[in-house]
Amino acid sequence: GRKRNDPASKQLENYAMNAAPSKVLDWMGLGQGQTIMTMSNGCPVANRKDVKTAGRRGPLVVEDIVFFDEWQHFNREKIPERVVHAKGNGAHGFFVVTNDITKYSRAAIFSEIGKETPLFIRFSQVIPEKGGSDTVRDPRGFAIKFYTEEGNWDLVANNTPIFFTRDPQMFISFIHSQKRNPATNLKDSNMQWDFLSLRPESTHQVMYMFGDRGIPASFRTMNGYGSNTFKLVNKDNQAVYCKFHIKCKEVRNLLPEDAQLLAGMEPDFYGRDLYNAIEDGIYPEWMMYIQVMTFEEAENWKFDPFDVTKVWPHGEFPLIPVGKIVLNRNPKNYFAEVEQAAFAPSNIVPGIDFSPDKMLQGRIFAYKDTQLHRLGKNFMKLPINCPYRTKVVNYQVDGESVHEHNDGMPTYYPNSFMGPVEASDLKEHVWPVIGDCKRYEDVTEEKDEDNFTQPGIFWNKVLDQAARTRLVKNIVVSLKDCKEFIQDRAIENFTKVDPEFGRMVRAGVDAEYNVIKDVAPELSQKMKI
Ligand code: NDP
Ligand code: HEM
Repeated sequence: GRKRNDPASKQLENYAMNAAPSKVLDWMGLGQGQTIMTMSNGCPVANRKDVKTAGRRGPLVVEDIVFFDEWQHFNREKIPERVVHAKGNGAHGFFVVTNDITKYSRAAIFSEIGKETPLFIRFSQVIPEKGGSDTVRDPRGFAIKFYTEEGNWDLVANNTPIFFTRDPQMFISFIHSQKRNPATNLKDSNMQWDFLSLRPESTHQVMYMFGDRGIPASFRTMNGYGSNTFKLVNKDNQAVYCKFHIKCKEVRNLLPEDAQLLAGMEPDFYGRDLYNAIEDGIYPEWMMYIQVMTFEEAENWKFDPFDVTKVWPHGEFPLIPVGKIVLNRNPKNYFAEVEQAAFAPSNIVPGIDFSPDKMLQGRIFAYKDTQLHRLGKNFMKLPINCPYRTKVVNYQVDGESVHEHNDGMPTYYPNSFMGPVEASDLKEHVWPVIGDCKRYEDVTEEKDEDNFTQPGIFWNKVLDQAARTRLVKNIVVSLKDCKEFIQDRAIENFTKVDPEFGRMVRAGVDAEYNVIKDVAPELSQKMKI
């Protein structure tokens, strides 16, 4: 057959060429140019193939330190995968300012046109486990870490401008409903649609996900959206609310049939595509834009501007260009740079701030908390996470595996011995809060629960008839396996978006109309299981 010849397939060959070029030419003859392997204490290893035994047929002896050194590390080489967004790939690159937004934000990253800031991006699928397939129907993560001179700013974005829930307390149930059934360990349409249909605020994102953009053609051809509402603060301490958009040159998607084939044949389709593009010098690019809303506009807007199930329409809040993002360097060690990368919405810098958005506020807590579990206490010191363009100076001490010293600096504040002091020029933005402190119920009391106006605009104005038909087909493929009462409830929500939408899904479900053929029963028959 035809041999693979892409950069990803040639990675080891390239390593060997760099390590010992002359030897590779006569294909890896052992000897000169190759380094000697050692144990973790640096001692050279004479034999790495055979255990040390008392007599030819065993048993092992305790003095086989090579055996213990290897095994003790191997037995601990896995860490927990991310609770969501477990499967992903990343790359290094830079951000360059193309337009002046200093009137909105004093963040150093935006300070002048042409200024470059290094960054790292990790793209991901949300629901599949670490070994899952890339080309499933799912939102995609688009997490960006900007290494600015005032600290790291993480814009932990998705490829969708909205989200399924508007209350962070709903997030856990939402995720549980989309993951595996705890009894069967299988994906479960009833769970998935039970939750989605019970929570009408998910309808907007459900339509986005079951539409064409639910399966991108690659990480390179999808947009990123900060989704949550943020706040920008300028040098005079004036603030506006803001949304971030990261747009690729052209959004491209996969047909569900092709995606399904790839999920089996090339489960790492996006990962390979990203790696190869960068190795081949085809550097992926995006433009960053912001939308801006004043506090006054926020007060009077017809929707809740902090509701992440809604967008800010472009017509009312036009996109303002900010800069360009380019990815131009692959990681050298996936585990160190991608698996251990820790993005958190709580990582902000002066000039970029939070809005009252409840979901964002929930996220401020969740990420660092899970990372302390996933990566251990000192994960911020890892090279991929550490704000290397500034110096971390604080009064935190000790914890596992500390290796740097602080020159004998005092470990309490305030002190009389020249310890670091507060940045007293840096005034935090002050904003008023009003209202009763209570648990505000979404569906019953507040006027903001309008769950269908924007989905209606999406259906009527954004999608053409062919795109609507594809959306309906994709929904039916998933909904057809559910209990009738769940189907009915889901269709009721779609009917509220637009009666025609509801009718089309109903017709599809009733006809058990099957776009991607369900081959499982046929196969079981054939194999006489
Ligand atoms: P616009 O007509 O200005 O925006 C529509 C946007 O929809 C486009 O700019 C594009 O977003 C996105 N889009 C285009 N085709 C598809 C598709 N097949 N699947 C998913 N998204 C698509 O109108 P509005 O800003 O008033 O928004 C109208 C509706 O469009 C919203 O209710 C929302 O459902 C959807 N939308 C809005 C976005 C926003 O931030 N305003 C972003 C994305 C979708 P993009 O330019 O980001 O690629
Ligand atoms: C990952 C929580 C909503 C984007 C994660 C992780 C958690 C989490 C716990 C795992 C982090 C890790 O292990 O490092 C939440 C909560 C949410 C929420 C509680 C809502 C209340 C969102 C939204 C977006 C988003 C709205 C996008 C706009 C991401 C991305 C990752 C992620 C991109 C993967 C980061 C990476 O690549 O490491 N989320 N999330 N999340 N989340 Fe969220």
